[in-house]
Amino acid sequence: MSDLKDDKLEISEAQIAAHWKEEEYYYPSAKFISQANLVDVDVNKRFSLDNFPECFKEYADMLDWYKYWHTTLDSSNPPFWKWFVGGLINASYNCVDRHLAKNKGKAALIFVPEPENEEPVAITYQELFVKVNEVAALLREFAGLQKGDRVTIHMPMVPELPITMLACARLGLIHSVVFGGFSGSACGDRIADSGSKVLITIDGYYRNGQVQNHKEKADQAVARAKELGVDVEKVLIWSRYKGKYLSDTPMVKGRDFLMDDLLRDFAGRRVDPIPMRAEDPLFLMYTSGTTGKPKGIQHGTGGYLAYVTGTSKYILDIHPEDIYWCMADIGWITGHSYIVYGPLSVGTTSIIYEGVPTYPDAGRPWRIAERLDVNIFHTAPTSIRQLRKLGPEEPRKYNYHFKLMVTVGEPIEPDVWRWYYNEVGKKEAVIVDTWWQTENGGFLCSTKPALDPMKPGSAGPGVPGIHPVVLDEKGNEVPPGTQRAGNVCIKNPWPGIMQTIWGDPERYVQTYYAKYCKNKESKDWRDWPYFAGDGALIAADGYIRILGRVDDVINVAGHRLGTKELESACLKVADVAEAAVVPVVDPIKGRVPEVYIALKPGVTRDRELIKKDVVASIETLIGKIARPAHVWIAEDMPKTRSGKIMRRVLAAVSNRLPVGDVTTLANPDVVEHIKTMVESQSQAPQRAEAEGAEDIRRFGQVE
Ligand code: WTA
Repeated sequence: MSDLKDDKLEISEAQIAAHWKEEEYYYPSAKFISQANLVDVDVNKRFSLDNFPECFKEYADMLDWYKYWHTTLDSSNPPFWKWFVGGLINASYNCVDRHLAKNKGKAALIFVPEPENEEPVAITYQELFVKVNEVAALLREFAGLQKGDRVTIHMPMVPELPITMLACARLGLIHSVVFGGFSGSACGDRIADSGSKVLITIDGYYRNGQVQNHKEKADQAVARAKELGVDVEKVLIWSRYKGKYLSDTPMVKGRDFLMDDLLRDFAGRRVDPIPMRAEDPLFLMYTSGTTGKPKGIQHGTGGYLAYVTGTSKYILDIHPEDIYWCMADIGWITGHSYIVYGPLSVGTTSIIYEGVPTYPDAGRPWRIAERLDVNIFHTAPTSIRQLRKLGPEEPRKYNYHFKLMVTVGEPIEPDVWRWYYNEVGKKEAVIVDTWWQTENGGFLCSTKPALDPMKPGSAGPGVPGIHPVVLDEKGNEVPPGTQRAGNVCIKNPWPGIMQTIWGDPERYVQTYYAKYCKNKESKDWRDWPYFAGDGALIAADGYIRILGRVDDVINVAGHRLGTKELESACLKVADVAEAAVVPVVDPIKGRVPEVYIALKPGVTRDRELIKKDVVASIETLIGKIARPAHVWIAEDMPKTRSGKIMRRVLAAVSNRLPVGDVTTLANPDVVEHIKTMVESQSQAPQRAEAEGAEDIRRFGQVE
């Protein structure tokens, strides 16, 4: 914070808001409204703060409990909220077993392989039940796992991933799914932090027409975890094709086992689901934050499941008879909540697509939608932009009809929103722009699809029971309609909120609550607003427009990357003395990282080779999604007098925005050097300043 005084680069809130204009409303059709789950105009009253927290009973009542809870919310130890205390429940039972009586022959999952000549595979609720039971028996008896143990799962989009997750949930094992695209090393960090003794993976899979050798990453992950002091005892490997080993990386004797071989001994086995306390942890999901180390976001069982079930029903409008397709990856929170737990809990058919949306061409998603008759479609702005760019007229060629479409993960430009509405949705589908985070379990802001008009580029009001507020730096409320930006916070806890950061409760309090809690001794939840870390504007109608992160997280194609993680990967290259990573506006991915490095004195190695090493280090330690657009070698970094690197000056240079007054920096000349280098050697970023400038301007402000 001292930097703000140091360099006079503050941006007034009015400046930030200058580019924002109100968009016109769009209304849901009568046809949509007539079939919608949530049509009660009194819902806001029911979920008002006056009825808090009892209003959330409505969601918990959508579940089957072994034992009903006695306390809806125990807030006696803020901000460690406990929901539905006294209740006993099992998530696997609610997502699988309870649907058998009426729907055992209905497809729970439909797997769509990336190669188009492979047929989709439907898995009924009965088959899912059989598989989840067999895998649970294996995990308990072969792997020796017990309630409370952590299991790391590093898998791509195949049905064995949700099957494994549900098998864990059945036994009360805490799964930690790592996004399949992450490197072995990143997976190893997460194994070590969670203390997992078992890693579950797959031999290979398809991505963009290529077979990926995934097993190789398991070896790297185990090695990395060992460096950090955690020994993985068993690696359990699924096979993309039964009876065929798709990887050329050898099996390690005594450690590696093929799931299909092991499962033969468990054929037909049944395992009773373990009744879990509502507040027992269900899973960990690692996400980037403001320091180098990823945070293990811990979600509970009863509150989380109630929340994703309620919002799947009310906001996604899922009915059991729908065919629902969320194109996100299960390795992210969207996939956990809205491919696996929410949709299966409400008993619908959820599609799992293995590959990339544009393989082999930009008509692929619409062919899948037509063939399977998908009627709810869920994706992120980055995919929408890509599909629009490569095939703006493709949707017209296919005969499918969506009733509802979702956008999530980053702000959507009104122009992109309109293409989604007009072309993909054929002017028939309602769009919900859902704003939320890994930490939140489920949606925070969105329009209620049958009740609220849509406004392009705005997420909408808080969903039922969520009471958002925009606060300025001092904690004062920014009134709706003033066009001033602030930090979006939630006034009240809700059942989907994380429980803590695994192994680091102090960091949980610091990151999400310390900023706006006026009285740390208070036992009243009203004193503990949740700080989301996003900048936002609240319009006169209460709709929230998210501007982007206010911390040093970069949102690349909807994936959260911490600048500090990227920088420490750069520093692994021996020649690099200092590194700074900044976001650059990209027309497809939203943001991409650019890297600035300064070399150690006396380094004479070829600069191009050093740059290549930096890129390679980022790809190995984090994954290809983090690949920087540019690596710039600077003679020195712009620094404050107290020696801090001014990332936001670099961000301004990379995005061709004014750097402002830099005369108070310790080394103002350096800025001019860097500017000349960058402007002479790269094209200007393509997207207009208006669309992306707000959060770039804010970047680094809380350093
Ligand atoms: C951003 C993804 C604008 C936001 C579910 C948030 C969004 C971060 C939206 C969380 C949206 C998510 N409009 N921005 N509809 N949804 N974000 O944890 O900056 O991967 O803080 O969760 O994505 O990313 P995460």
